[in-house]
Amino acid sequence: MATLAGRSALVTGASSGIGAAVAEALAAAGARVGLTARRADRLADVLARCREHAPGSAMWPADLADPDAAATLAAAAEAEFGGVDVLVNNAGMPKRRHVLDLTPADAEEVLRLNYLAAVRLTLAVLPGMVARGRGHLVAVGSVAARLGPPHEAAYAASKAALTAFWESMAVDLDGTGVQVHVVQPALITGTELFDARPGDEEPLSDLSEGLPPRDVAAAVLGLIGDGRFERYVPDWFDQMASGKAADVEAFVAGVREWRRERLGEIADSGGVAAAPPPQ
Ligand SMILES: NC(=O)c1ccc[n+]([C@@H]2O[C@H](COP(=O)([O-])OP(=O)(O)OC[C@H]3O[C@@H](n4cnc5c(N)ncnc54)[C@H](OP(=O)(O)O)[C@@H]3O)[C@@H](O)[C@H]2O)c1
Repeated sequence: MATLAGRSALVTGASSGIGAAVAEALAAAGARVGLTARRADRLADVLARCREHAPGSAMWPADLADPDAAATLAAAAEAEFGGVDVLVNNAGMPKRRHVLDLTPADAEEVLRLNYLAAVRLTLAVLPGMVARGRGHLVAVGSVAARLGPPHEAAYAASKAALTAFWESMAVDLDGTGVQVHVVQPALITGTELFDARPGDEEPLSDLSEGLPPRDVAAAVLGLIGDGRFERYVPDWFDQMASGKAADVEAFVAGVREWRRERLGEIADSGGVAAAPPPQ
């Protein structure tokens, strides 16, 4: 595990799931951790666990969909920690909706949080990192960024935008001492991403196949330690991504087939099929 003694980290979406696990792992590695999300009560629980390792940790409740939140948060972290060494842009929301049911407002909502909020916060802390000649900018993407899943067009686009920004940024920051990383998780359970939400369909994925949030936290610590740009969780998803790049027609045909099978299985088990299979 990377040693982060004397370093500071800011983790968004730290009130549950992957963000809480990443925050605790960073604190266990020695970093003072700043936590942010909307729910103060849940952040306080995570903060108490982080402070067992890193007593100087802090929390700042904020709604990152608010365009002004990034500057306020970056200023608070600067005042408390004297700068941010590790920024983990993890806050995110799902959008499980067949494209025929999707509105432009849905697409904008998910892009605002999953992409624009991360960009805003990153641009707010970046000058300090460059001035200090060090830093790690981490994005929690998704395999959806590379492997467009069914019924998640708007979500996948938000993660693809985030990944594309991160790729270009990794090149732009060459020579500055600031490192850029993206972790692309597949199915992770024990988080709240698959909880029922108004307007979201039931997930097509079989949740019994999920990995725990600590696997993503380990991947984040691994990227910070080895300096690599991208890592999938589980690792073997990189073969799915390279297979798709080699033959996108076969990939789209395969996902269509998978979707038809899953809708059939969900209907057979008494669940509600989100959309009728194509005629
Ligand atoms: N679970 C998976 O299978 C999976 C797979 C790939 C990628 N991911 C990504 O991993 C990240 C974390 O997801 P998770 O699975 O851990 O789900 P989660 O438990 O629902 O966590 C989402 C976090 O984002 C925060 N958040 C949501 N809206 C916010 C807002 N407007 N302002 C500030 N914070 C906000 C939530 O806190 P509050 O509600 O307290 O604000 C929560 O801490 C997301 O970016 C997700 O897309 C998850």
